[in-house]
Amino acid sequence: LEVGPDLPSNAALERWLGEPLKAALLPTSLFLTNKKGFPVLSRPHQRLLARLLKLEVQVVLTGAPRHGGKPLASYLQYLEHVGQHRPPPSAYELFARGYEDYLQSPLQPLMDNLESQTYEVFEKDPIKYSQYQQAIYRCLLDRVPEEEKDTNVQVVMVLGAGRGPLVSAALRASRQAARPIRVYAVEKNPNAVVTLQSWQYEEWGAQVTVVGQDMRGWSPPEGADLVVSELLGSFGDNELSPECLDGAQHCLKEWG
Ligand SMILES: C[S@@+](CC[C@H](N)C(=O)[O-])C[C@H]1O[C@@H](n2cnc3c(N)ncnc32)[C@H](O)[C@@H]1O
Repeated sequence: LEVGPDLPSNAALERWLGEPLKAALLPTSLFLTNKKGFPVLSRPHQRLLARLLKLEVQVVLTGAPRHGGKPLASYLQYLEHVGQHRPPPSAYELFARGYEDYLQSPLQPLMDNLESQTYEVFEKDPIKYSQYQQAIYRCLLDRVPEEEKDTNVQVVMVLGAGRGPLVSAALRASRQAARPIRVYAVEKNPNAVVTLQSWQYEEWGAQVTVVGQDMRGWSPPEGADLVVSELLGSFGDNELSPECLDGAQHCLKEWG
């Protein structure tokens, strides 16, 4: 990408940055002169440079020095300075690091049993579990009035529990809402079930029942007030979410 003096709209910049950029050419003519006579970039160019550096694009300085007799090295020092003073990566950027501009082949967790390492990647998601917790919290408050909070135990089924982060989120939500729950953690991957069982034994206790079965064929001992699942997948319907949840409708209580 050869960067010119006029930058396009933000939308066009987003498109540039969506391309597999390898290098950005910055001509010395692009630079302005600051009060002390050193080459500097305009604010919009600084912002673009910071975003290019985030994508690890190589920066190539082209042209002869042309600012107050300063050598080419002063341009490089300036570029390094901008690089070192950019804002730290957000939680999202840290999480996605290394996957920028990569097409990923979608998982098929119903057909394949996922590996522990794959769950570990899911569990690094900085947003998903707290949003689930918030949703469960609100649902519990919605369903159980204040006067029933000591007697009304809500039945929560986590369908496709993996290694259990949504079970933990449900338990946190229950404490947050001061509404008691009983949880069923349903998971068909026997490898993940082992982890669920150890969590159940070590941490969760009798409040959680681990069920090592396909949700579609399981006969629950009672109906659920609340079903929690995360089967959306990264591409279309690769996790077969509607197919699985349709087969699990029998788990839900009337008005669940
Ligand atoms: C995307 S993972 C989510 C795991 C976990 N809830 C999390 O957030 O880390 C979906 C999980 O659902 C399980 N699963 C998919 N289809 C299922 C089915 N029909 N019955 C039970 N579990 C299923 C998969 O084995 C996988 O562990």
